[in-house]
Amino acid sequence: MEEQQKSSHVVLVMVTFQGHINAALQLATILHSKGFSITIVHLELNSPNPSNYPEFTFVSIPDNLTESQLSDKDIPGLVRSVNKNCAAPLQQCLEKILHSHHHISAVIYDSFMFCAQPIVDDLGLPGVTLYTHSALGLLFYHVFPQLNEKVCVADCISGLESPELQALQLQGFHALSSQNPTEAGMEVGAAFANALKSSSAIIVNSMEFLELEVLSKIKQYLPTPIFIVGPLHKLAPTMCNSLCTEDNKCISWLNKQAPKSVIYVSFGSIVNIDKQELIDIAWGLSNSKQPFLWVVRPSMDRGSEWTESLLNGLEESVGERGFIVKWAPQKEVLAHAAVGGFWSHCGWNSTIESICEGVPMLCRPFFGDQILNASYICNVWKIGLELKNLERGNIERTIKRLMVDMEGNYIRKRAMDLKEKAAFYLMEDGSTSCSFDGLAKHISSV
Ligand code: UDX
Repeated sequence: MEEQQKSSHVVLVMVTFQGHINAALQLATILHSKGFSITIVHLELNSPNPSNYPEFTFVSIPDNLTESQLSDKDIPGLVRSVNKNCAAPLQQCLEKILHSHHHISAVIYDSFMFCAQPIVDDLGLPGVTLYTHSALGLLFYHVFPQLNEKVCVADCISGLESPELQALQLQGFHALSSQNPTEAGMEVGAAFANALKSSSAIIVNSMEFLELEVLSKIKQYLPTPIFIVGPLHKLAPTMCNSLCTEDNKCISWLNKQAPKSVIYVSFGSIVNIDKQELIDIAWGLSNSKQPFLWVVRPSMDRGSEWTESLLNGLEESVGERGFIVKWAPQKEVLAHAAVGGFWSHCGWNSTIESICEGVPMLCRPFFGDQILNASYICNVWKIGLELKNLERGNIERTIKRLMVDMEGNYIRKRAMDLKEKAAFYLMEDGSTSCSFDGLAKHISSV
């Protein structure tokens, strides 16, 4: 018994972003159900609610971060600060845990907490990366060190005959690498690529059938074992991990709407939008004449009063047809019969959640992996339309194309097909459960 306990303790190191917190806690829940005892190491900023998980031990480490850093657009700068500020506290914390538990089977760390890998190497512990984006992103990081103004991903990967990779339009990768060539971006990319190489395994919240060709390409370049364990939100019991309070009044409003008539609009937890863009979105939604449910986080339009700028004149033209909340119970919203479209920033969690409910998407990516996810959605799976700019006339037209036109019907049909595939994948005694068994075995044996 003691031996079994000794071999099954996992430490999970989380980062401070909503999308990453969700995935880490869902993974921890599943590993716990498989017999692992769990210690969660988290930052002080955006710490999870321990009372939701009485079975886990929670340990907080100082991060020296401020709320304003979190709402800044400089994500690479923030990730660099996180790793710089947290390396020493994380080392002390792991040493303390080792001291009291004598044994740690593995340290699973969020890919944004790459400072963990050299620390666990130093302590002689196996490190496992939790990658909360699509597997496609791994390809990007693998070739990252070779990229420059003249060399793009397509140049780095030989044998690009795969239709999926061609459909992805890999120029998108190039755009990613040259879009933000900041010092922090380069540093973070290189550190992450290094951590990936030393990591004993990589866990990805995706589904194999979504990324088959990309995965086979990655395996040619990356010898590290990869466990595809998604969709985590469907596999872990539905515990609310929201850092903001969910406004459930929107569900009563949805109950009053016609089936598939509502476009749900949400740009995730970190995207900021300029005031003028918010106004154009508001008028585009209003002029489309479709019912809409819109998440406007108070921090989204930096500094101004929540929705003040939006509601000027809008109430009269929208009336009961629109509903605005600060934070929605998104998974419930996407599963609601009234929702017929999802206008999204294409964060990976939102993408996976939408696929699992068969909701077609309107894609307006802002930065980072969102650009790659939008390319998957529009060019590979063909379950969405890209919104090329935020001009109100364009918004109105594109919403109508998705929600009303024949073109939207075809897209909806493909989204429903993909939902069925996901449901089958979850039901099968194969894919996901095999991956988890493989992961559990890997963790116990490293
Ligand atoms: C960020 C990046 O934007 C994304 O590209 C990356 O893949 C993960 O980190 P975020 O902006 O938070 O993620 O988007 P996303 O990955 O979609 O995660 C948002 C999560 O918050 C989802 O699980 C969604 O269900 C939840 N959410 C969002 C709510 O529960 N309510 C809301 O109102 C909005």
